[in-house]
Amino acid sequence: MTKILVTGGTGYIGSHTVVELQQAGYQVVIIDNLSNSNIKVLDGIYNITGIRPEFVQGDVTDIVTLRHLFETHRDIKGIINFAASKAVGESVQKPILYYRNNLVSLLNLLELMPEYGVKGIVFSSSCTVYGEPDVNPIDETAPIKPATSPYGNTKQISEEIITDTIHSGAPIKSIILRYFNPVGAHPSGEIGELPLGVPNNLIPYLTQTAAGIRERLTVFGDDYNTPDGSCIRDFIDVVDLAKAHVVAMQRMLDNEDTDPVEIFNLGTGHGLSVLELIDSFQRATGVNVPYVIGPRREGDIEQIWAIPDKANKVLGWVADTPIDQTMQNAWRWQCRITGR
Ligand code: UD1
Repeated sequence: MTKILVTGGTGYIGSHTVVELQQAGYQVVIIDNLSNSNIKVLDGIYNITGIRPEFVQGDVTDIVTLRHLFETHRDIKGIINFAASKAVGESVQKPILYYRNNLVSLLNLLELMPEYGVKGIVFSSSCTVYGEPDVNPIDETAPIKPATSPYGNTKQISEEIITDTIHSGAPIKSIILRYFNPVGAHPSGEIGELPLGVPNNLIPYLTQTAAGIRERLTVFGDDYNTPDGSCIRDFIDVVDLAKAHVVAMQRMLDNEDTDPVEIFNLGTGHGLSVLELIDSFQRATGVNVPYVIGPRREGDIEQIWAIPDKANKVLGWVADTPIDQTMQNAWRWQCRITGR
């Protein structure tokens, strides 16, 4: 069995990816410092797959811990790197934390990979690297715009670090995945997003409001230049997203003649507005979500959605879970964690 290291594997996207990797026959080792996740996620993974992944509690920014992990698991062939901080607003307040967490961890992995014979790394990037696009939808050749937050900057710099390292001749490969807006939860209701404190992102705020934990959702702006005035995003089901990591890993490890660095947009190809998403949640679940229109949120992009053709063709992957199903899964998960 091919062994894969998943950093940040108890997090939201990480845990869904561990499930898909195990179901595809990979052996998984997780390293996570549990800074934004819970050890119980391992039970959820076990309940779905019947396999408890090996778990190391540690920080990828700590090269001694990481070296020890590679010494213990000399047969790791690939890495999926989710271990990073991801709150845009917080990154403006705590830039050093963001640069350290997101960049030092990547540097450590890239430094140790050749030493321990690790062939490939799948890297979690974001559509945030495109900034506010001139036109939509966008493919991978769209220009990279100056980052508007330290978080966004870490994604741009990380992409450059990976590219420069591989162009220097390092004997490794990488697939960089630019996620659009991952939402939803595993259909089993066993794993999902577990935000600490008040959620920043739309869906956890929405499901918490539907559950009565928050009084009402605020829609940040209805005066954008879009059909209904609210922002438009490409909401992609987290299980679809997780599956893309498995095919990316297969491509990197099993194909000798692919480019050493490849970049893919991961989205559905459809833009949905914030108001449309609220509608879809209410339609799919029959649960009412009280909301008000508020002012715009600083730094928000008006509209962005993907051309996912490259991933569709080259990876043979498509994000095709209907949004209503994704909303039902998000709601099932919210009910589970609130004990409804
Ligand atoms: C952003 C980043 C993304 C990052 C993600 C994680 C961009 C384009 N995307 O996504 O790279 O990985 O954060 O934190 O920069 N909204 C409301 N009310 C709420 C919450 C959100 O109306 O209470 C709206 C926002 O204004 C936005 C949409 O919902 O239009 C999505 O917001 P959110 O879920 O926070 O994700 P992004 O900001 O798109």
